[in-house]
Amino acid sequence: MKKTLLITGGAGFIGSHVIRLFVNKYPAYTIVNGDALTYAGNLENLADVKDRPNYIFEKVDITDENAVNALFEKYQFDGVIHLAAESHVDRSILDPLAFIRTNVLGTAVLLNAARKYWKDNMENKRFYHVSTDEVFGSLGEEGFFTEETAYDPRSPYSASKASSDHFVKAYYHTYHLPVVLSNCSNNYGSNHFPEKLIPLAIHNIKNNKPVPVYGKGENVRDWLFVEDHARAIDTIFHNGRLGETYNIGGFNEWKNIDLIRLLCQVMDRKLGREDGTSEKLITFVKDRAGHDLRYAIDATKLNKELGWAPSLQFEEGLEKTVDWYLANEEWLQHVTSGAYQQYYNEQYQQR
Ligand code: NAD
Ligand code: DAU
Repeated sequence: MKKTLLITGGAGFIGSHVIRLFVNKYPAYTIVNGDALTYAGNLENLADVKDRPNYIFEKVDITDENAVNALFEKYQFDGVIHLAAESHVDRSILDPLAFIRTNVLGTAVLLNAARKYWKDNMENKRFYHVSTDEVFGSLGEEGFFTEETAYDPRSPYSASKASSDHFVKAYYHTYHLPVVLSNCSNNYGSNHFPEKLIPLAIHNIKNNKPVPVYGKGENVRDWLFVEDHARAIDTIFHNGRLGETYNIGGFNEWKNIDLIRLLCQVMDRKLGREDGTSEKLITFVKDRAGHDLRYAIDATKLNKELGWAPSLQFEEGLEKTVDWYLANEEWLQHVTSGAYQQYYNEQYQQR
């Protein structure tokens, strides 16, 4: 079946995996990647699909209403998969307004364009909003986030994502816009920008630089291989029920410090270093402001209703990830030159 889809944020970490999956799996679809190419957007992530006949790149800022409307006019989209966002919690603490602009205003601009262009015929249209488990706040030692958990965002990032989720649901109820949402836990894998814990630690270990662990490293995250997230997005986009939200997670909780120790062991082995060498780089630094203690997703609904399950054990996924970073030195060099250095110094010098 022919379809023209807008995938926003396709040059980023998760977006590039979603684009690759859709371009390869659905040759009859036209996939338009709408991305502003911020510091986090990198067309190198899509080098292998860039010349495919069913792939088009459009540089667009989703906060620019005229530009977004022009894109809808040009392509007459059948569906939108919305991933574009400011995504890093630490940056949201440094500059909250940038997160409100892109994550809240940008989402509202897209919703409004979809409403305008689909108002006479919403049949077979779909607006999929990709969100995060951080909207649910922080868990104690026990329990899981389900789709019924009340929203309790605690960082400017999660507050902006929570707000965007509310707008998506409001457009469903008010205008009957055919929406579907998902809230996913922490992703890891190739093409992950090295401001986030796992790629930052890989980069630093490789270069014998301190590996900064916030607080005591007791915070817990629930890690999912990025290609499993992309498969979940495919499943939910095609088969999810309208107006519904689906939690996505790997049932794979790790304390930060345990994860970093495991990563150090893998890196020692891959780099031919003596056991214990990389662990010496671990440096406990000042905690993140308002640091959420624990996230853990209950993904039962997605499994029971749509049959999705994660495909990889964490140890296997982590090995694959390390292998990718070691084989893609040039990619790392490109993204860590220039502006990255300035961000890194600002973020870590004070700690
Ligand atoms: P990322 O930061 O790697 O990529 C974001 C992309 O959005 C970049 O390509 C960037 O250029 C683009 N972008 C930013 N502002 C834009 C704007 N104004 N207009 C157009 N494009 C813009 O992010 P990611 O980690 O791939 O996350 C993608 C989505 O998934 C986000 O919505 C995020 O909230 C959500 N999410 C991420 C994770 C995770 O662990 N990374 C987990 C759950 C949900
Ligand atoms: O849970 C989903 C979210 O996961 C996504 O919505 C976000 O876009 C994504 O960035 C991620 O947020 P986190 O804040 O959990 O990811 P980050 O990699 O920044 O941090 C993971 C944990 O590691 C967290 O407890 C903070 C800690 N940390 C992070 C960095 C960058 C450190 O200890 N040291 C660091 O240098």
